[in-house]
Amino acid sequence: MASLRDIRATFLDYFAQQDHEVVQSAPLVPQDDPTLLFVNAGMVPFKNAFTGQEKRSRPRATSSQKCVRAGGKHNDLDNVGYTARHHTFFEMLGNFSFGDYFKEEAIAHAWQLVTKEFDLPADKLLVTVYSEDDEARSLWRKIAGLSDDRIIGISTSDNFWSMGDTGPCGPCSEIFFDHGPSIAGGPPGSPDEDGDRFIEIWNLVFMQFEQLGADKRVNLPKPSIDTGMGLERISAILQGKHNNYETDLFRNLIAAGEDVLGVKAEGDALGSHRVIADHLRSTCFLMADGVSPSNEGRGYVLRRIMRRAMRHAHILGASEPVMWRLVEALKDEMGDAYPELNRAQALLEDTLKVEEERFQRTLGRGLSLLEEATAGMAEGDALAGATAFKLYDTFGFPLDLTQDALRAKGMTVDEDGFDTAMAKQRADARASKFTSGDAAPDAVWFAVRDKAGPTTFTGYAGTGGEGRLLAIVSGGQDAKALGPGQRAELVFDTTPFYGESGGQCGDSGEIRFTDGAVFTVEDTQKRGGDMHAHIGVLTKGDITLGDAATLDADAPRRAAIKSNHSATHLAHAALRAVLGDHVTQKGSHVGPDRLRFDFSHNKAVSAAELAMIEAQVNAVIRQNDDVSTREMTPDAAIEAGALALFGEKYGDKVRVLTMGQALADHATPYSVELCGGTHVARTGDIALFKIVGETAVSSGIRRIEAMTGEGARLYMEEQMGYGRAAADSLKIPPADLVTRVSSLMDERKKLERQLAEAKKQLAMGGGTAGAPAGPESVNGVNFIGRVVEGVGGKDLRGLIDEAKTQMGSGVAAFIGVNDGKAALAVGVTDDLKDRLGAVDLVKAGAAAVGGKGGGGRPDFAQAGGPDGASAQAALDEIRKVLAG
Ligand code: ALA
Repeated sequence: MASLRDIRATFLDYFAQQDHEVVQSAPLVPQDDPTLLFVNAGMVPFKNAFTGQEKRSRPRATSSQKCVRAGGKHNDLDNVGYTARHHTFFEMLGNFSFGDYFKEEAIAHAWQLVTKEFDLPADKLLVTVYSEDDEARSLWRKIAGLSDDRIIGISTSDNFWSMGDTGPCGPCSEIFFDHGPSIAGGPPGSPDEDGDRFIEIWNLVFMQFEQLGADKRVNLPKPSIDTGMGLERISAILQGKHNNYETDLFRNLIAAGEDVLGVKAEGDALGSHRVIADHLRSTCFLMADGVSPSNEGRGYVLRRIMRRAMRHAHILGASEPVMWRLVEALKDEMGDAYPELNRAQALLEDTLKVEEERFQRTLGRGLSLLEEATAGMAEGDALAGATAFKLYDTFGFPLDLTQDALRAKGMTVDEDGFDTAMAKQRADARASKFTSGDAAPDAVWFAVRDKAGPTTFTGYAGTGGEGRLLAIVSGGQDAKALGPGQRAELVFDTTPFYGESGGQCGDSGEIRFTDGAVFTVEDTQKRGGDMHAHIGVLTKGDITLGDAATLDADAPRRAAIKSNHSATHLAHAALRAVLGDHVTQKGSHVGPDRLRFDFSHNKAVSAAELAMIEAQVNAVIRQNDDVSTREMTPDAAIEAGALALFGEKYGDKVRVLTMGQALADHATPYSVELCGGTHVARTGDIALFKIVGETAVSSGIRRIEAMTGEGARLYMEEQMGYGRAAADSLKIPPADLVTRVSSLMDERKKLERQLAEAKKQLAMGGGTAGAPAGPESVNGVNFIGRVVEGVGGKDLRGLIDEAKTQMGSGVAAFIGVNDGKAALAVGVTDDLKDRLGAVDLVKAGAAAVGGKGGGGRPDFAQAGGPDGASAQAALDEIRKVLAG
């Protein structure tokens, strides 16, 4: 029996023999395509080749492309687990012609492959064509000898394929396999076509148009071919199965799930096992391509899929995280065809574990809430939107997870109600958009790119060079000339200015034209993929297209950037060495002043770890080896140990940077990375590396910031300066600072205690000068009244209690004066409190110091007032009330 591996190989080999270039699957996150959430068809990476924007060296290609259909136009998430053939992740086999062959050859290849290479009986096959496509109909008759009843015309969008709301599209023709009358279901186009008897195996799209907007469709430069065959589906048929989940690959994944969960995949447990196997694939492939779980955009789709799988693991009785334990099995099945899984293994396991631990904390409580909420509901009822929103907001249940949970009970969710609750909550918050947020390609730059072509970058060798002006983009327009004072973006044939990319910021500097004009460059950005746009202002003279110029990037600034960039690579290697292989780059920014590096790691990096990282980087700096740069194929680079960025698409050749030697044995390089940036010549040029910050960016992602060279030295100087200044003011050597500061703190605490005691003594002993030492008698009642300077409101209660104890029976009033304000407290012993309420007394006093109110209980009350100077008058008022 042919395995999925064999079937994939047979397909690609067949088309390779037919002169097709075998192209590696592109990453799942579309490159340069803001219109799509994920690659959802084999043709997506070739979109620009169909529209003519990209010229490929060969006009035919074949691939097995990773696809995710979860969110967006093609979304299969909700069906997974309930049907035989839906997946969130699948591989699409395809052959492509970019203006080369068209319908006839596409049909001939398809028929040959299916009936000869795959050996499917011709009498079990039938096809559909777009109802208006007579040409396709007669080609099927001619090439395959199919009778008319087995060529079914379909007039709906089922036979007109489009990538999304925009992009290449065209009529299509699908090949179906007939499982025979023992299985229920009708042929395509019939009312019971959804049955399992007739299964679509291959879609041939005759690409002829490009959809530009809702009502705008233009012809492609040349008719082209895009085909798509789901590897999982064809494998099921070739392995004699009706269900994709019964093919070898899925059986092995499900068996791993059975082991880990200790539950057989049968009866009620079967669906959950299938969900877990499917979602394991999509989540791992997405993460290996650089997507991290988050609360918006692609990261949220990833989290939704993960959580759906985790709930099914919960149904099967999991109380500990399990998904991460399945990564190994997935790697065994697919790691040879998709080595990114092997490279990302540590990251995948770590992330899945943390995500599942976190979700398990709320999952049980959320499910009980759902249980309660549905207790009174019947089949067919809809759960209140507000409840679904609470599950989402408080318990982290994505809406589709709640829907999935209710589906088993035949219930739904009031989605409008959910949306309303969500909108209400978001009213003040930033609206979260589920789009990629990439800027749309600018039409002006496409036009400029057509005439200017890619810029040759000469800046690896130095910061100066000569160039000819090829384009001026000013005020959003493609201009021919520029006058003094005008701002613009200039493109030359050749430049030493680095355009921002790979985290490294763009160069600034000066461009002097031969006739004296001067353009000041503030920044350099890449436009149209490979053009360097020099952004700035013409400070002197006029310029015209074709002018020659000398270009000088700011050399000291570039040197600082280079040093920071090389240090970034060393920091990356050191982070992995100290924290573990799960550390992968999540982003970086290299500027002249400092570098920033974001990486996957689930907790704060401790001070001790930071010190080790710094020590390692500085040790490699001191090795002072040459930094080596080589060009090689991406595969050779990865073979050489290069840390590839997940989800990057690389060209035919990549630059590989190698730095330093392993600290333990000097046997292997310390850092090997793919990088197009500019770097120091020897590690010693970095001079010094100092981490200046460690923070969290988002869940599971940390950031370090660091400085190098003179910047790092000045930073350390500044830090030491603080210590020196403190030591000077204490007149001690800086080395004694720590012990001295701690003894000063102890001393201070002791003094505070003494001071509090002294104030109390003073207050009890008479407070303000001239006040009687013991209680006075007012109207036959003992009274202690004191104004105490510098005593705060909260210390008055203690004084009152003391005075009450001293008197046995009586009234105590203390007024603390602080910063000119008065705080009053009055206490009355229990025997008197019914007769002389503390609240009335304190109110009388408060009025005298400009306070309003006062409150408490009959035995103790407090108040305050702004006029501390009238404290004595306030005591007099209280005396007056006592006197009656
Ligand atoms: N692009 C076509 C599909 O996805 C082949 O079905």
